[in-house]
Amino acid sequence: RGTLTVGELAKLLHKDASEVIKKLIVLGVMATINQEIDMDAILLLAGEYGVEVEVKIPVEEDTFETVEETDEEADLLPRPPVVTIMGHVDHGKTTLLDAIRKTNVTGGEAGGITQHIGAYQIEANHKKITFLDTPGHEAFTLMRARGAQVTDITIIVVAADDGVMPQTVEAVNHAKAAGVPIIVAVNKIDKPDADADKIKQALTEYELVPEEWGGDTIFVNVSAKQRIGLEELLDMILLVAEVNDFKANPDKRARGTVIEAELDKGKGPVARVLVQHGTLKIGDAFVAGNCFGRIRAMVNDKGRRLKEAGPSTPVEITGLTEVPLAGDPFMVFEDERKARAIADRRAIKHRQSELGANSRVTLDDLYKHI
Ligand code: GTP
Ligand code: MG
Repeated sequence: RGTLTVGELAKLLHKDASEVIKKLIVLGVMATINQEIDMDAILLLAGEYGVEVEVKIPVEEDTFETVEETDEEADLLPRPPVVTIMGHVDHGKTTLLDAIRKTNVTGGEAGGITQHIGAYQIEANHKKITFLDTPGHEAFTLMRARGAQVTDITIIVVAADDGVMPQTVEAVNHAKAAGVPIIVAVNKIDKPDADADKIKQALTEYELVPEEWGGDTIFVNVSAKQRIGLEELLDMILLVAEVNDFKANPDKRARGTVIEAELDKGKGPVARVLVQHGTLKIGDAFVAGNCFGRIRAMVNDKGRRLKEAGPSTPVEITGLTEVPLAGDPFMVFEDERKARAIADRRAIKHRQSELGANSRVTLDDLYKHI
């Protein structure tokens, strides 16, 4: 039901109602015996008494990540491949993507190190490709793992003058764990000490054997800096996409994954999301992680406002009430009340597990929650 009166709660806790009221006052909640108190107060109080509270959330309303997709074959239409660029730090992932997009993201990065996942869409041979850039620095394993989970194809970038390094291997493992096809881009072949064959040799140890050596891994030699091999790389991406025939049903409520999110001073909570199924529209009510939202505005990676975003489109959305976490799934619901209710219950559940983790509840905690 979500609430209890103070009297009912006291009974459940085997405490005197007056004692419970006093405790509530200490926690900053003013309530009389017949007054209903909300779930937050209940959880706090239970935490004070060291009692576990189980909030029952109807399963069908809470597990949208696991809701099975039931699309008729006829409703599935081709969609752009989602391609994640991975590899060791400084091997040239962002430069390569800059070269493909003919822009300059690298120039704006602090210390030349990527710290988040960038999502872009380009067109090659009249076909769209969605790219996710990931950081190569060892600290960002989780982000790389997330990138691997939402991707259709992984491009492993290896600098020909450096070789196979720890995060190269990590990227290969992520892609393999996710069961995603791999294309190896041997980068920096313009450098005098570049040795593409050495890279190929080293990668055979990880079961990535080039086609010309009898294996089935596509290797492309590129120079992001001198724009060598870019077209071949794009051709290979489109080829792998064609073979895999990536499809989605655009004609239903959207769901996808939060790529990154932050609190913007002007716009409030902002999230960059990848739409994976259905079509996201202005005004849609949705849940992202524990957060509720209603799409107020959508902007693509070129800063253009969109009214709708179909499968494989990365968009920046505003209209969230809170900031979700990167990697959170999001899903649109038919009505706002349901979306709100689910987000609320998830938030409560989340808080509950947090409270459970550190059983002492302080006043500070309380104020955080109201
Ligand atoms: P992280 O995101 O921090 O993991 O790095 P990154 O893989 O995105 O590397 P980034 O694109 O920032 O490039 C690192 C350095 O390599 C920069 O100084 C680039 O100019 C240089 N670089 C990238 N591609 C090439 C290339 O093809 N040839 C040469 N010579 N230098 C390159
Ligand atoms: Mg980078």
